[in-house]
Amino acid sequence: MLTAHVITIFPDFFGSFLAHPLISKATDIDALSIRLHDLREYTHDNHRSVDDMPFGGGPGMVLMPGPLFEAVDDIREDGKIDRVILLTPQGRPLDQDVVAELSAAQSIALICGRYEGVDERVREHLATEEYSIGDYVLAGGELPAMVLLEAIVRLLPGVVGREESTFDESHSFAMLEYPQYTRPSKFRDWKVPKVLLSGDHQRIERWRARQSLLRTLTRRPDLVAGWRGICGAEELSARLQKALNDE
Ligand code: ADE
Repeated sequence: MLTAHVITIFPDFFGSFLAHPLISKATDIDALSIRLHDLREYTHDNHRSVDDMPFGGGPGMVLMPGPLFEAVDDIREDGKIDRVILLTPQGRPLDQDVVAELSAAQSIALICGRYEGVDERVREHLATEEYSIGDYVLAGGELPAMVLLEAIVRLLPGVVGREESTFDESHSFAMLEYPQYTRPSKFRDWKVPKVLLSGDHQRIERWRARQSLLRTLTRRPDLVAGWRGICGAEELSARLQKALNDE
């Protein structure tokens, strides 16, 4: 079971996330336990302050190290934390490999950054790693924490059924998915490609492989560089040939 501790000044933000069927299934089957920690519980002044002005001046407020260190120390009293993760736009870009690695941990702590920043000593001496969910700046790390958790939860054993298999996820990530259609076969003037209605599974597989390849090459050529890492030259060439064979 993965225990995920979330340290935030907005624990209420996570309410409907925790009630989401995917998350509640994971907690029901004991694959996951999410523990919310209100950062303000670790303050000692009347205002329950978690932030202060930056030394050296400048706009905005900075999250103070004290409450964050206390929160993590307090969580550690109940047990080990494998990884202490700071969500920040300065972090390493989150990808499926990181998600897969984190899904194998026993316990993680997610620190949701806020305001203009987080005291540098948190990065240096508390966080074991930092992740960003993309090159844009949000008001805080709460949504990124939920994004990370949802991606992790999908990989926990027993959470996602066979029909929605996550098998071969790294491969499907290095290659975009083919176009999908459902009923009706004709909607307005737009028809589903004939091959998908043919019942010929080999042809359908070839068509899908080709579409996947074309999509990846046109939309995400940057992913192509990663193909070398997931398969050898022979397999790569076999895949390309299979995909390029006219359907
Ligand atoms: N906090 C604010 N923006 C963020 C981002 N893009 N990724 C992770 N944490 C953030």
